[in-house]
Amino acid sequence: MPVQKIAVVGGGTMGSGIALTAATHSIKAVVIDISEDQLSDAKTYHEKQVARAISKGRMTEEEGVVALSNLSYGTSMQDAEDADWAVEAATENIEVKKEIFKQMFDVFSKNTILATNTSSISITELASAIPEAANRVIGMHFFNPVPVMKLVEVIRGRETSEETTSATLVLSEAMGKIPVPADDFAGFVSNRVLMPMINEAFHAWEDGVAKPEDIDSIMKLGCAFPMGPLRLADYIGLDVCRDIMMVMYNGLDENPKYLPNKKLVELVEQGNLGDKSGRGVYTYDEA
Ligand code: CAA
Repeated sequence: MPVQKIAVVGGGTMGSGIALTAATHSIKAVVIDISEDQLSDAKTYHEKQVARAISKGRMTEEEGVVALSNLSYGTSMQDAEDADWAVEAATENIEVKKEIFKQMFDVFSKNTILATNTSSISITELASAIPEAANRVIGMHFFNPVPVMKLVEVIRGRETSEETTSATLVLSEAMGKIPVPADDFAGFVSNRVLMPMINEAFHAWEDGVAKPEDIDSIMKLGCAFPMGPLRLADYIGLDVCRDIMMVMYNGLDENPKYLPNKKLVELVEQGNLGDKSGRGVYTYDEA
């Protein structure tokens, strides 16, 4: 039976994008977040994106109404207790995620697959928070902006069952995505390759090889990147980039090549996190 309703735990950029993608593919989605403000931002984002899709002729008015009616919002996991799938998209902190997994285990039915959108943390380690249900835990790593990016990186933990894996492939495709497998190493494939490249762009900036705008122009015009690596770092969030580097440093034998660049760390410590704080490598008009 196809998935009818998903619970998305965490209403930030990734969670709201996952929920919107489900809703526009005829799957009900409940966004759960402890912050009312975060839920209100998620709702505003959904309304704007649906209005834009209608204005661009990608969706009819009726389809827009249906998509929005597929979305709901709640501050408690109980608001989605009848969901037949759950995906955790909270902050990239292992203790926070483990706590959420324990709650998901308590609230959702014993058949519900418990996925995580972690971008770097070991699935086996997260599943250890709920050993009785480790077979139902899987990594389902979406990319930002979720409605646009085609990939879902699918990561099995040591105990993840075949049923959980095949159901995840089916759901990813039902959401219009292309699932591609990766093994459970820190950073998986996407961030193992992307983050050192972003980190190296910070080193190049620090060494004075070129100014940020020029580093980005070189990579956009010479390597066909849609955004240069420093612009992309701001878009992803500099704190997220630093945290992923640290997960890889700790998870891959403390290899110093994964240590985050000094300039990147300094910007994060100053609260300059990129687009979301209005300032990062670049300065933006609106936070
Ligand atoms: N939500 C929904 N749709 C969005 C969107 C969002 N947040 N942002 C852009 N779009 C849509 C726009 O609506 C537009 O579609 P239409 O023209 O049909 O309306 C389309 O994307 C293109 O957007 P724009 O014209 O505004 O801008 P653009 O052409 O410069 O594209 C971009 C914007 C898609 C973000 C592009 O710059 C891009 O692909 N950048 C790279 C993104 C990337 O690398 N993402 C991966 C990050 S790593 C990650 O997420 C994982 C991790 O673990 C860190």
